[in-house]
Amino acid sequence: MPGLTIGDTIPDLEVETTHGKIRIHDFIGSGYAIVFSHPGDFTPVCTTELGMMAKYAPEFEKRGVKLLGLSCDDVESHKAWIKDIEAYTTGCNVSYPIAADPKREVIKQLNMVDPDEHDDKGQLPSRALHIVGPDKKVKVSFLYPATTGRNMDEVLRVVDALQKAAERKVATPVNWKPGDKVVIPPGVSNEEADKMFPQGYDTVDLPSEKQYLRFAEA
Ligand code: BEZ
Repeated sequence: MPGLTIGDTIPDLEVETTHGKIRIHDFIGSGYAIVFSHPGDFTPVCTTELGMMAKYAPEFEKRGVKLLGLSCDDVESHKAWIKDIEAYTTGCNVSYPIAADPKREVIKQLNMVDPDEHDDKGQLPSRALHIVGPDKKVKVSFLYPATTGRNMDEVLRVVDALQKAAERKVATPVNWKPGDKVVIPPGVSNEEADKMFPQGYDTVDLPSEKQYLRFAEA
């Protein structure tokens, strides 16, 4: 059975968290959310990641993005571990909830299981991260193994790219960052593009002479 992937509605599960019980759809509300798992509390890579996520939390908040962490450890463990996270990443405040999944049911439903990671109670989560839109659909999924920490600059960049595409019916090219030109997607005709970009846009000359690579300020 394929796991949760882009385009799917995130299951509306009720989870126990460091902020009490949360229903995922209510939590997302009318904005975006990042639901991200880590293999286990009191482990080195996870400690660095959750601290950095806390440091970036104000940037996510500015973009209307809520954060929800998750692992198979219980809430008491998360609460104790937060003290280490905040001690390690200077100036961070873990203000986002971290969910507990000791029965390993949520990680299965959210496609967050790492096939190579186990403890004596069963399988453990990968470093999975779903960016979910206001329609409760998964827009982006990252799946990293336990040994590879994620890059929170990249997570933020992807949120900016997703929100730009949603606002302006555009797409973002390789290594795009806010302020760079966007591309006009193939489904937009030149006539439509003229209306969308009255200031004009650039079409790149290519050997095929097909005029599909169009850049615009947006
Ligand atoms: C870590 O967070 O450092 C880690 C967790 C599980 C396996 C490997 C590394």
